[in-house]
Amino acid sequence: MTRRRLPRPRELAPLLGFRRPQFDRTARRLANALTIEDLRRIAKRRTPKAAFDYTDGAAEDEISLLRARQAFRDIEFHPSVLRNVTNVDTGWHVLGAQVALPFGIAPTGFTRLMHTDGEVAGAHVAARVGIPFALSTLGTSSIEDVKAANPHGRNWFQLYMWKDRDRSMALVDRAVAAGYDVLLVTVDVPVAGARLRDTRNGMSIPPTLTLRTVLDAIPRPRWWFDLLTTEPLSFASLDRWPGTVAEYLDTMFDPTVTFEDLAWIKQQWPNKLVVKGIQTLDDAKAVVDLGVDGIVLSNHGGRQLDRAPVPFHLLPRVARELGRDTEILLDTGIMSGADIVAAIALGARFTMVGRAYLYGLMAGGEAGVDRAIEILSGQIVRTMRLLGVTRLEDLSPRHVTQLHRLVR
Ligand SMILES: Cc1cc2nc3c(=O)[nH]c(=O)nc-3n(C[C@H](O)[C@H](O)[C@H](O)COP(=O)(O)O)c2cc1C
Repeated sequence: MTRRRLPRPRELAPLLGFRRPQFDRTARRLANALTIEDLRRIAKRRTPKAAFDYTDGAAEDEISLLRARQAFRDIEFHPSVLRNVTNVDTGWHVLGAQVALPFGIAPTGFTRLMHTDGEVAGAHVAARVGIPFALSTLGTSSIEDVKAANPHGRNWFQLYMWKDRDRSMALVDRAVAAGYDVLLVTVDVPVAGARLRDTRNGMSIPPTLTLRTVLDAIPRPRWWFDLLTTEPLSFASLDRWPGTVAEYLDTMFDPTVTFEDLAWIKQQWPNKLVVKGIQTLDDAKAVVDLGVDGIVLSNHGGRQLDRAPVPFHLLPRVARELGRDTEILLDTGIMSGADIVAAIALGARFTMVGRAYLYGLMAGGEAGVDRAIEILSGQIVRTMRLLGVTRLEDLSPRHVTQLHRLVR
């Protein structure tokens, strides 16, 4: 029989775990998010459907994106034990300069549509943390404003070669003048991918007030309040467009762009040039032969060709064939710092995150981006420690096995 007695107040004190209340609801919500997936759930509640789906969605049946995320889940890490892992250094050298972490913020279009803090929030956080911020040709903040938000840090500019060449190159000139140190030329968009969620939602820029969007706004007043009471959306390179995003992009993307154009762009750009959207070993070799400084293995976050190669699967072979001399960057599907560690172990020099940071932005503006980067960097450091590694250069293919599986 259990004998019972009355608890003594002195014994209760150590059991009480009352925390100081956090009155800022956004801060409370963000602090409770432990993973990027948690931020995604918050983002979905707080963002109108069309803007959330534009960010979260991919092309056609969205299989490219599902597979890319699954590929990161289908790995096995091989830790080394009994190592002193007290001090972990995540500093690294990428494309001619230092970075504090092995990832940067990927270029994304229409970012102020997700949250009015937009690109400037990402650039502020990049400045504080010491990682590069990449601004898209379809950015909703100007080249100069983003530079001002990250004045001493690394700013990268992403170029789409429009049908209107002069307009594209005028942007490049502004990026040179503002001191951007890397040009990412995106090459996986001869035409826009079929983002079916956008078509179904009638996603337009800027968002139009229809009966559906008004009803959708009722549970998300904060987003609309922000949109209507801040600087109207303006674009690095385009004007108002009444149609859907895909229709707009199709009027701009140039299906005639070839390797010769890439060589020509290289002549115009004085700093590091990186080709984004490489999806085969042959193309990787071909652009490296042109003398570019790096490549991004990427399928555009699954937003272009559906059932495209998974960049993470492609990585070990490309790294083996191209060797240490070529800087290989990788994106698509990264949802955790452990994914980044796995990519570095298998030969990536650097990684970029798109949605992982955008979920944070939608969940809480700049504070949400801070939280996303904090989650990713915490996961990187913890994974390195658990692997018995204190420096990124000590990560190697022996730390990771890829289990090949295709979902669906
Ligand atoms: C909402 C959104 C907009 C994007 N816009 C661009 C863009 O304008 N230019 C570009 O090169 N890539 C763009 N991308 C692709 C990203 O740069 C990156 O390749 C992709 O997001 C990586 O996959 P992840 O979202 O799984 O991290 C966009 C991605 C998203 C999610």
